[in-house]
Amino acid sequence: MLSYRHSYHAGNHADVLKHIVIIEIFEHLLKKDSPFEYIDTHSGAGLYNLHSEYAEKRKEYSKGIAKLKSKAWPELCSYFKVLAKHNPEDELNDYPGSPLIAMEYLRNKDRGWFYELHSKDVEILKQNTANNKRIKVMFQDGFVGLLSLLPPASRRGLVLIDPSYEIKTDYERVFEVIVKAYKKSATCIYALWYPVVDRNYINQLEKKFINSGIKKIQRFELGISADLRNSGMTASGMIVINPPWQLRGKMSRLLPRLVETLGESKGAFFKCDELVGESLRNGNHIVKTPHSA
Ligand SMILES: C[S@@+](CC[C@H](N)C(=O)[O-])C[C@H]1O[C@@H](n2cnc3c(N)ncnc32)[C@H](O)[C@@H]1O
Repeated sequence: MLSYRHSYHAGNHADVLKHIVIIEIFEHLLKKDSPFEYIDTHSGAGLYNLHSEYAEKRKEYSKGIAKLKSKAWPELCSYFKVLAKHNPEDELNDYPGSPLIAMEYLRNKDRGWFYELHSKDVEILKQNTANNKRIKVMFQDGFVGLLSLLPPASRRGLVLIDPSYEIKTDYERVFEVIVKAYKKSATCIYALWYPVVDRNYINQLEKKFINSGIKKIQRFELGISADLRNSGMTASGMIVINPPWQLRGKMSRLLPRLVETLGESKGAFFKCDELVGESLRNGNHIVKTPHSA
């Protein structure tokens, strides 16, 4: 039985990073006419009221999306456009999750597959995506579902893997499933989200990717403080395989400002690096950029 509900966390610093990255990828995919498929292995409920009792309990959004003002971030206009669609009164009340962000980008010829295993959240997700023929909501394990969908007919796709990691084996499972998925489709873009709660898990994950034989892997990480033990999630990151060519440049400009805006202590930092390049011999080119908030 899953206990994690994303409604407690919607709009926090991790959502901001993750959603900026996937929006950049969607914009890249739309540059070509040929259709693509979007597979969200861990979808959540799709839309979150930031004044619900869940969101209000920890007010994580107040340290995340609420700190970003659209006028100060013209380079994030696409992100703010999606937010505005769900907040027409110009007040931040609702936060769209990855499935509803995806729906802004899927054209009639594209397809979206949304997996969710929480019995209540999957029902909310169905309501939030109702009547959209491009979308299929699946009450199934997204790790299993993903492998059954690959390769996409068009060979173009974005796979978002965004577990809550409440089950610790998810750290191993995400890697194993990506290796299997990549064997079935080496042309899809894979975006894996991870939390930094215990840095050891992430160091191991990073090493596995570097030694995986998979090429073109970049990583974007945003830390609101230096790594701290027993302080919950102080940073989160996205590992992107087959990233669009412009993504790293854009993130290298955004991340220092995001650290300045969202950082909560002097140890706030970002990472914007290439874990493996075009050729495997260039791998492990890591640039760590500490940044004071
Ligand atoms: C971090 S939340 C997803 C947030 C969403 N991707 C977004 O960005 O708005 C993770 C979700 O995965 C669901 N989940 C956990 N294990 C799953 C599995 N094996 N397959 C599908 N969904 C799962 C949880 O119920 C939870 O709603």
